[in-house]
Amino acid sequence: MPRRIIIAITGATGAVYGLRLLQVLAADPALETHLVITPAGAATIRQELRMEPAELKALATISYGHREIGAPIASGSFATDGMVIAPCSMNTLAAVAHGLSANLVTRAADVTLKERRRLILLARETPLTLAHLRNMAAVTEMGGLVAPPAPAFYNAPASISEMVDHTVGRTLDQLGLAELGAGLVRRWAGFERS
Ligand SMILES: Cc1cc2nc3c(=O)[nH]c(=O)nc-3n(C[C@H](O)[C@H](O)[C@H](O)COP(=O)(O)O)c2cc1C
Repeated sequence: MPRRIIIAITGATGAVYGLRLLQVLAADPALETHLVITPAGAATIRQELRMEPAELKALATISYGHREIGAPIASGSFATDGMVIAPCSMNTLAAVAHGLSANLVTRAADVTLKERRRLILLARETPLTLAHLRNMAAVTEMGGLVAPPAPAFYNAPASISEMVDHTVGRTLDQLGLAELGAGLVRRWAGFERS
């Protein structure tokens, strides 16, 4: 059974996280990646990356339309090793929190939760309303992992791409794919001793 990861890109700012995740996962030929992009996700890809969604789809093993509700990833009988929504909009977070499955992203997320598989949401918005916070709590109570893409500074990043890589590497840690993120994360080893 190949290792399969579902990746969704929704319309929060930070399409680069989805892109980088796809690039890193594509380096492992033993991994299958299943990609879904929402229409708002496609808009942010064009705005923020100056790329066409098709360029990201080319990095995935298989990609689906967001309305393709008959796709394999819409069924729990299709085994996967987890799902990452990177980035995750508050709209998609709300749908996941309430078990709504109107598109393939939210259906696949619902399936991932019901099958007790790893679901990671790089949920992005600021500031947060009580609704956002409650939805994050609901997803957490259901076993999902809410991992806002907040940059770390303890590793002294020299560029935005290093910040992005750190977040992507830590996401791979959570997927149990730490070996793929080896070059992306500068891990904390304590304060330097003088
Ligand atoms: C450039 C841009 C940036 C956006 N950034 C965010 C954001 O950071 N977080 C968020 O929740 N929504 C953001 N939105 C709004 C979402 O795209 C919008 O709520 C959309 O309906 C989400 O749909 P989806 O969940 O199907 O992708 C942004 C929209 C645009 C055009």
